[in-house]
Amino acid sequence: MNEAILDLFPAGTTINSAGNLVVGGCDTVFLAGHYGTPLYILDENHIRRQCREYRREFTRAYQNVRVAYASKACLNKALASIINQEEMELDVVSGGELAIALSAGFPAAKIYFHGNNKSKSELEYAFQAGVGHFVADNLAELELIDRLAGKTGYLPEILLRVTPGVDAHTHHHITTGVAGSKFGLPLEDAARAIKQAAGLASLEIAGLHCHLGSQIHEVEPYVKALGILLEFSHTMKIEQGFELKVLSLGGGFGVNYTLEDKALPAGVYAGAIASALVAGCGELGLELPRLVIEPGRAIVASAGVTLYSVGMQKKIRGFGHYVAVDGGMADNIRPALYDAVYTAVAANKVNHRIENEVIIAGKYCESGDILIRNASLPVIEAGDILAIPVTGAYCMPMASNYNGALKPAVILVNKGKHRLIRRREEYRDLMYLDVEGGQ
Ligand SMILES: Cc1ncc(COP(=O)(O)O)c(C=O)c1O
Repeated sequence: MNEAILDLFPAGTTINSAGNLVVGGCDTVFLAGHYGTPLYILDENHIRRQCREYRREFTRAYQNVRVAYASKACLNKALASIINQEEMELDVVSGGELAIALSAGFPAAKIYFHGNNKSKSELEYAFQAGVGHFVADNLAELELIDRLAGKTGYLPEILLRVTPGVDAHTHHHITTGVAGSKFGLPLEDAARAIKQAAGLASLEIAGLHCHLGSQIHEVEPYVKALGILLEFSHTMKIEQGFELKVLSLGGGFGVNYTLEDKALPAGVYAGAIASALVAGCGELGLELPRLVIEPGRAIVASAGVTLYSVGMQKKIRGFGHYVAVDGGMADNIRPALYDAVYTAVAANKVNHRIENEVIIAGKYCESGDILIRNASLPVIEAGDILAIPVTGAYCMPMASNYNGALKPAVILVNKGKHRLIRRREEYRDLMYLDVEGGQ
């Protein structure tokens, strides 16, 4: 095995004397036997390390900053508690994510409610819970929020989501800041919304939000978007007396999925964003706003490892060598959804010589259910354990019951200890919501 691959796993990942992969101080081959496979592993220490790095680097660069974890990347009660303990704030995009966060005791005042089509009942739920910040997507939503504020007497902080028209050079399914996106308003529409919102009874727009996309490996898109939003705020100030008190640049900070990826450290994003913000506000005579960033992937992706057991193998002449595992697109849709590229390690044969380039196939009834198209592995046999790193983000929350798949268990590992934080689904869970006789 190329030892460098261990860098894609959570910090401190090693190989023990049995030649097994050790994550968070726990032997992954033991974990696979104990909890079964497929198995999602989250390394607690690594999650905390990422939270601290983002908070430290952004606070160092710009004092008035809040780091909100984008919970769509992965959310469960244990994770919400960790994020809270790390003094992060939290993004949710639905009543469901809000319910999970609140059930873990996450303070509502530190939650940002996002979404391009929040329902009235979701907004009412968030108002009732005392959610502190709403990121409004459009004028109709601003009006709805205003009516709720009038009715309840509760006035959360409101940001307006805009699309600055910046291309973040990432996959088109995860690009959101360009003109024509379904999220937020283009600047000319945002200008009209700000004008009309000024006439609403209760509501005040405290600032602007944009999110450019995900898996961004450059600082330029952030700096460009920042400049556009500051110019826009300046115009709105002159024309409408708008004060930019809060500026959220969303998430999107890239991570390494393979050894070819070149993710930037948090400090590089922080430095570039902070200096552009200070310089831009200085030039335009704007007060320095509170800065919000919303990393999701950068906090949890590299903390996650998924374990699979190898089943059947098939060599098709002139085409390739398939190694089928006991999971696939139902627990990791990313390769099928947007050609995401992963690597794998044979967890029980980490020191074995690499012998083959294989195709790791899932077990679901879709030809596109391929996890990795070219995995370099030693000689593989049925029962071997494959470990795929960097699966902590956008795998668990996108898991499905396709083909009657049972969603895997999730465990937290930390310094040699392991704990089940979400049990594996059982067959009876698949029927849990069915109503007898179809009534
Ligand atoms: C509004 C918003 N903020 C933050 C994020 C998190 O992005 P990432 O996980 O790439 O950091 C997303 C992801 O889609 C988003 O839509």
